[in-house]
Amino acid sequence: MKIFPNPEFVKNAYFKSFSEYKELYNYSMNHFEEFWANQAQENLTFFEDFTQVLDEKYFPKLEWFKGWKVNICYEAVDKNLKKNADKIALIFEWERWDSQKITYKELAENVGKSANLLKSLWIVKWSRVIFYMPQILESVYLMLACLRLWAIHSIVFWGFSAESLKDRIEDLKADFLITADWAFRKWKPYLLKNIADEALEKSSHEVKKVLLVKRNFEEINISKNDVIYNDLIKSQSEICDFEKLDSEDTSFILYTSGSTGKPKWIIHSTAGYALWAKLTTKWVFDLQENDIFFSTADIWWITGHTYTVYWPLLNGWTTLIYEWNPLFPKEDRIWEIIEKYKVSKFYTAPTLIRLLHKTGENLPKNFDLSSLKVLWSVWEPIDSETWDWYFETVGNKKASIADTYWQTETGGHIIAPFPFAIPMKKRSAGFPLPGICWEIVDKNWKKLWVEENWFFVISKPWPAMARWIWWDDEKFVKTYFSDIFREKKPLYFSGDGWFYDEDWYIFITGRVDDIVNISGHKIWIAEVEDIVDKDENIAECALVWIPDELTWEALFGFVVLKDKKNISNKDLLQKLNISLRKEIWPIVSLKNILITSELPKTRSGKIVRRVLRNLAKWKEIEGDLSTVENKEILWIIKEKIKNFN
Ligand code: WT7
Repeated sequence: MKIFPNPEFVKNAYFKSFSEYKELYNYSMNHFEEFWANQAQENLTFFEDFTQVLDEKYFPKLEWFKGWKVNICYEAVDKNLKKNADKIALIFEWERWDSQKITYKELAENVGKSANLLKSLWIVKWSRVIFYMPQILESVYLMLACLRLWAIHSIVFWGFSAESLKDRIEDLKADFLITADWAFRKWKPYLLKNIADEALEKSSHEVKKVLLVKRNFEEINISKNDVIYNDLIKSQSEICDFEKLDSEDTSFILYTSGSTGKPKWIIHSTAGYALWAKLTTKWVFDLQENDIFFSTADIWWITGHTYTVYWPLLNGWTTLIYEWNPLFPKEDRIWEIIEKYKVSKFYTAPTLIRLLHKTGENLPKNFDLSSLKVLWSVWEPIDSETWDWYFETVGNKKASIADTYWQTETGGHIIAPFPFAIPMKKRSAGFPLPGICWEIVDKNWKKLWVEENWFFVISKPWPAMARWIWWDDEKFVKTYFSDIFREKKPLYFSGDGWFYDEDWYIFITGRVDDIVNISGHKIWIAEVEDIVDKDENIAECALVWIPDELTWEALFGFVVLKDKKNISNKDLLQKLNISLRKEIWPIVSLKNILITSELPKTRSGKIVRRVLRNLAKWKEIEGDLSTVENKEILWIIKEKIKNFN
């Protein structure tokens, strides 16, 4: 069923109709280089012009806008001073005291001072700076300060354990660590500095300095390698020159998934990344002068980078950052904020929408949410029930619902509906953005990784595509490119399954490889298996994903015990989950496990996961079983699952 957007909003929209979008899309395909050259020149300031739009000679290392000189901090801060000096750039909300509002002028002062402070510590070009920071204003100042100097920031979630932080420090060979004394949630401080100290103590790599942002005056352990932001910032000048970066210089590094010892740091470029952030703003978010944008994404996710921080600032918008639990101290906190700031565009994830729906179905009705024009979503498809509630109760049938599809690796949206140009369809993420040259390949045409789905591939590069994995080109190609070639180049494969309907609306069916998406957190199943395998009771295990009502996907484990121990599924599950939470982080747990005497294997000893996936989902045993050596175990497992619980 199609639902048409509110005509009131169509008048000023960037794309007013499907044909307007289609025209730009076709132009981008037919005049590829010209399209990108025009977009670049219209949207960013360049200190030196580019000599070539795209150089693919050293694939996979692409060079976009060769010879161009840019700086993202200049774009986000300095450029706004002329027109927007007194406009609010950042609103900071948290559980305590008052919120804070920072104008562009104040932002520029704070960023300038922070950049000078970093310089005084010898944080310079190419320094690698790990942030283990809560979601506070200083984090944004310091992110921008790094970009100003071309120091490379890499933000690690403050909820990660000392062990996980240690892995990242070692892997990145970080030069500096920036942390705070504590993060704050549910009126409870989390002592970050202590965790950071523990990580540094365990780490085989030493950082040059630790920069500590103090949030209160309580005593905290200070070692000789620590410097205190609050003391040093006072004497810094607000004026700090910025570096003119090459288009292809690294802007930041982000850890995309997994959390144990196998990191996968994704490298993003400067010009291409910033350009895409600006373009998606126009096309997808349909930027209007007075919009107030509220994204619930934390800064340590790519969504936080692109759409909570960089994109709003690159466009001179007001962005709201918060440090709190969305249901705390009251379950209507989100609605209160939307009413208070007259938020017009709200961006969140289905997990949160489901939670808000479950905990307070009628709470939105107590607030004036009439400022809302679009309710955005990302991370997973929205199920119908949640969609209906979001549309009817939150958006009062006036705001459009728009689901956006993208990945850490894509830098910004690649599939999205254009909220005022096309009718909404439940569960669809819309259409490919201009410049995204897509194909869907089916299982028979060329073999990809699994059999059950159709695969969405992208056959031409776009500027915001991740450039590589930190020091591992081979892994980069292996992870993101298929074995299908166009013009001698392999196609980009997202790892997700897709289909499209008769109107060409795209629907995403989920991960088709060995990654599970739990509440929007992308986790490599193999890494969780590593930890489960370590348990003293377990000989071997195979984890598969199953759909889940609340978290979208969840993990189901098949485990074989070391010897005939008398331990129940339930007790073992509890034990495993305790260690998973400790060793990885709280979101990772198994939904259920089944103890079995053996796992189905091929003659060469490979576990046949395809069948296990079906069994865990209560499906039939099907497909070609000729390679399975111990077939009989499949029916035993099936029987056990039937009698489960
Ligand atoms: C994976 C990327 C999205 C940026 C932040 C997370 C899944 C993302 C959707 C959507 C269905 C989605 C995919 C994708 N995903 N958006 N609208 N519908 N699935 O980035 O951690 O790199 O995760 O999230 O599986 O590959 P990420």
